Amino acid sequence: MVKIACIGAGYVGGPTMAMIALKCPEIEVVVLDINEDRIAAWNSDSLPIYEPGLDEVVQEARGRNLFFSTDVTKHVSEADIIFVSVNTPTKTSGIGAGKAADLSYWESAARMIAQCCKGPAFKIVVEKSTVPVKTAEAISKVLRTNGDSSVHFEILSNPEFLAEGTAVSDLTAPDRVLIGGKEDADGQRAVKALADVYAHWVPRAQILTTNLWSAELAKLTANAMLAQRISSVNSISALCEETGADVSEVARSIGMDSRIGSKFLNASVGFGGSCFQKDILNLVYICETQGLQKVADYWRMVIDINDYQKQRYVERVIGGMFNTVSNKKIAVLGFAFKKDTGDTRETPAIDVCRGLIADGAKLFVYDPKVEAQHVHYELSAAKFSWDHPKAPYASASRLSSVSVVKDPYEACDGAHAICVLTEWDEFKQLDFPRLYASMTKPAFIFDGRNILDHAALREMGFVVYALGKPLDPFLRKD
Ligand SMILES: NC(=O)c1ccc[n+]([C@@H]2O[C@H](COP(=O)([O-])OP(=O)(O)OC[C@H]3O[C@@H](n4cnc5c(N)ncnc54)[C@H](O)[C@@H]3O)[C@@H](O)[C@H]2O)c1
Repeated sequence: MVKIACIGAGYVGGPTMAMIALKCPEIEVVVLDINEDRIAAWNSDSLPIYEPGLDEVVQEARGRNLFFSTDVTKHVSEADIIFVSVNTPTKTSGIGAGKAADLSYWESAARMIAQCCKGPAFKIVVEKSTVPVKTAEAISKVLRTNGDSSVHFEILSNPEFLAEGTAVSDLTAPDRVLIGGKEDADGQRAVKALADVYAHWVPRAQILTTNLWSAELAKLTANAMLAQRISSVNSISALCEETGADVSEVARSIGMDSRIGSKFLNASVGFGGSCFQKDILNLVYICETQGLQKVADYWRMVIDINDYQKQRYVERVIGGMFNTVSNKKIAVLGFAFKKDTGDTRETPAIDVCRGLIADGAKLFVYDPKVEAQHVHYELSAAKFSWDHPKAPYASASRLSSVSVVKDPYEACDGAHAICVLTEWDEFKQLDFPRLYASMTKPAFIFDGRNILDHAALREMGFVVYALGKPLDPFLRKD
């Protein structure tokens, strides 16, 4: 029986391994983590992450050929294929701080693999984490110099392209599976072994094989280009507000051009999540270290526009509400970085809420999938500190200007404004006449995701800001 171990039971390790176990019942898959709480949650009825459809996948495979454990060394030593899906955060100190990837978790995982694998054996080590180009070379050196010389370690790059919120459907029918490996016989033997695993359910034509460096760089490039699309349409949203054009109409028009395509063209308060910013910063750093400053500057602007968009939204809220939100109750609807996930890592809500708090606002946050302690943690933690094992959510100090409530009507009761920061479908179904009646007048709605029926809201009496759309006369300064 082929045995797979995966180091790191997070947003990537958990769902990807559950899918492999589901589709390959004859392969034993063990997902490992140093975080005991996380493993306990994977073994319980309340999984540590929310993804539509994930409960069903885990329930079917868990205990059959899918296991979750903290006994990392035992299962790694027994495995034929070892995935590494640990955190690769942005460095917070030293050379490259604020940009370069911190590979210390990866390196310690590699050292542990080297120490516990005994030969003779052929072990395949798979980079699942997103890593800088040439990481495979560094990892190979760690394994070679620390491991049993009768163990042959072959490294593959198999970046993960799933999107949170749609992880299960992305894993069930991926656009492509990318496997990078060395071009010699051992490399190709490893590539074939991993391709055979995916071929249980992914058509062979969609399993792309490349050299190692192309696979590593393809992941960073894919995220950079997705984020770039968002920043591009967001930059146009600012121009729309000044000119009277409507960003939704512009996006629809350009999206019908088959060369451009319609996806990822929704203007919003900004992108978030654990990957886009981190991976672009990493790309910027790699370009700088290669002496490619112009290329680095080009990609850096994608993040600058994202920061600008969040700042612009805060200014619209404060400016619209007579230049101050001091002591005003503001309902924040949605805190996750997008719908259908409880993930708050780098969510645009952080910078928006901080901007409003800095002006004295009293925030009442409602999100159907985000716990209060995560909101307080994100609003008080230092930048990039979230991306480390055992981020201390539970010990986050409570901010006096932020209340997290379990009911959207409570969040809005008596509020001066509603800020929609996540595109949860349930927000479209709210009883807006009831909300309007309960709010302080004038009652504002700042729709940072353009999901609401703005004309209907204006009919009810709301002052509405819709991102990238002609400005409500009430909000105009002239
Ligand atoms: N989240 C996404 O949507 C996504 C998508 C594609 C790629 N990625 C990449 O995948 C990697 C993992 O991302 P994630 O979102 O799953 O992170 P995560 O923080 O949710 O999970 C990483 C896990 O690794 C564990 N870990 C760290 N060091 C360990 C060690 N030495 N031994 C055992 N466990 C260890 C941590 O405790 C944590 O539970 C990152 O490189 C990320 O950039 C993420």
